[in-house]
Amino acid sequence: METRLLLTDDDSLRYAAGLLKEGKVVGIPTETVYGLGANALDVDAVGDIFKAKGRPQDNPLIVHISDISELEALVEDIPPLARKCAESFWPGPLTMIFKKKPIIPDTTSGGLDTVGIRMPSNKYARQIIKFAGVPIAAPSANLSGSPSPTTAMHVFKDMNGRIPAIVDGGMSAVDVESTVISFEGDSIRILRPGFISKEDLAEITDNVVIDKGVLEQLSPDTVVRSPGMKYRHYSPSADVTIIDADAEHFRGYVKEHGDSDTVCLVFNDSDCDETGLRYINYGSDSKQQAQRLFDALRELDEIGAKTAYARCPEKTGVGLAVYNRLLRAAGFQVIKL
Ligand code: TXA
Ligand code: MG
Repeated sequence: METRLLLTDDDSLRYAAGLLKEGKVVGIPTETVYGLGANALDVDAVGDIFKAKGRPQDNPLIVHISDISELEALVEDIPPLARKCAESFWPGPLTMIFKKKPIIPDTTSGGLDTVGIRMPSNKYARQIIKFAGVPIAAPSANLSGSPSPTTAMHVFKDMNGRIPAIVDGGMSAVDVESTVISFEGDSIRILRPGFISKEDLAEITDNVVIDKGVLEQLSPDTVVRSPGMKYRHYSPSADVTIIDADAEHFRGYVKEHGDSDTVCLVFNDSDCDETGLRYINYGSDSKQQAQRLFDALRELDEIGAKTAYARCPEKTGVGLAVYNRLLRAAGFQVIKL
């Protein structure tokens, strides 16, 4: 199969929507990362997403809508807290978990009786969904286990020959995946941190909890609330270790342990001064780090790093999302100095 790159004029978006209506899988831009979209209500189409990605069948997909009016047909009930979150954060990088209506196939929800719904802010994504006239299931458009794609070329690299088309909407703006939350009584539980932070959600209710799976490695037999958390993710070939230390202690550590196959992931060019080591600067604040992390992880592979030492991100705001992704890339190896 030849994979076509499509532009974002109306005709191209209609063409992409037509493919989706026919049950095909299409790479689509969103403000977070590129998604691998298919008709969420079509079991065969959704099955093809799992095949193209090599994704485990029990890992549920997020269903994307173009307008809040599409929500009620898909979910059993909408808690008042969810309405408030939708008002504040939709369209945008927030996925909310609801009890699903039977119209959502079990294949889409990974066998769960719940479904994650998100209304993206990317205008091309919403236009495609509107033209298709069906909700669109879309995981990140990478092969399972690789970093999430933030450009159409990243998608092409992983999906060439596996899907008929990719819509090239330019670079993603946010570059970490959406925040995933569920509701329990009057509390919000963060299952996956993202651009919408704990602090943002605290504006809606005082009662925001971070699920254990966000910061800890769960043992294989744990019943997890968000199945995505139990799989190995975002793993470059290099053996990555997070160094939780200030610049001076970081420098001291990598000077002692690094060699010519080592690459450091740093906040500032000066972090590796006088160590003689190669480094990738992934930004000095959390927003930049969120934008650059996946690229930095891909670059580690491109330049053939064998070991990597990463400076530890902040654990607040968007930083929590960066830390959560980096922890998985590092297989939870953290050295605190
Ligand atoms: O920003 C995003 O969310 C991107 C773009 C394409 O929208 N999508 C994305 O999808 O990151 P994916 O499939 O790579 O990650 C979905 C995450 C997984 O961790 C999954 O376990 C969780 O959301 N999830 C989906 N449905 C769920 C449900 N019903 N209950 C709990 N967790 C769910
Ligand atoms: Mg993913």
